Amino acid sequence: MTHWREVPPSHARQFLEPGPVVLLATHDAGASADNVMAMGWHQVLEFTPALISCLVSRGNHSHALLRRSGECTINVPTADLLDMVVRIGNCSGADCDKFTDLGIEREPAAHVAAPLLPQCHAQLECRLHDDAMVGQYDLFILEVLRIRAATSPKAPQFVHYLGDGQFMLSGKRVSRKRLFKPEMLGI
Ligand SMILES: Cc1cc2nc3c(=O)[nH]c(=O)nc-3n(C[C@H](O)[C@H](O)[C@H](O)COP(=O)(O)O)c2cc1C
Repeated sequence: MTHWREVPPSHARQFLEPGPVVLLATHDAGASADNVMAMGWHQVLEFTPALISCLVSRGNHSHALLRRSGECTINVPTADLLDMVVRIGNCSGADCDKFTDLGIEREPAAHVAAPLLPQCHAQLECRLHDDAMVGQYDLFILEVLRIRAATSPKAPQFVHYLGDGQFMLSGKRVSRKRLFKPEMLGI
């Protein structure tokens, strides 16, 4: 028999966290500086234009930089970068230069001033598409302009945050392609 426990509604992330944790990088033109934060709260919204939403809390330095510049890169780290991800998410660019202090590598992006993080498996260059929900929810709707992804490994291991300092690493991949209608496999 299954035994059940009550879980506080505020712990919904333990079951619904979409992951993977990503690194959102911004550029501060005024200070000629780059910044980066860890982010687990994001969501794909549309194929074309390629829209995603990101929750960047107004308490974070990145919030003001993203709002002001209207640009960022979203970099997808693999499990080997987990300690760096946690360190990035536990300090603020308002107090330090994370790239220098944490030894984070960077390269210029093609379409935005924010840097790419080449240690990550994939990099998405994004432009602010709609800020209508920023005021109330800190929710930015971004358009993905370009994606660069490493050709190997074929099945990278991403990290998913469960709260309370606990992470889940993505695991075995399985296919059910044969059960899909062809039109459902478009993208
Ligand atoms: C694993 C992890 C996931 C996080 N996810 C988010 C998130 O989705 N949204 C957010 O606003 N902050 C999130 N944070 C917190 C920010 O990354 C953290 O406050 C960061 O230090 C902000 O940096 P900044 O002040 O330089 O922008 C997360 C932190 C960690 C460690």
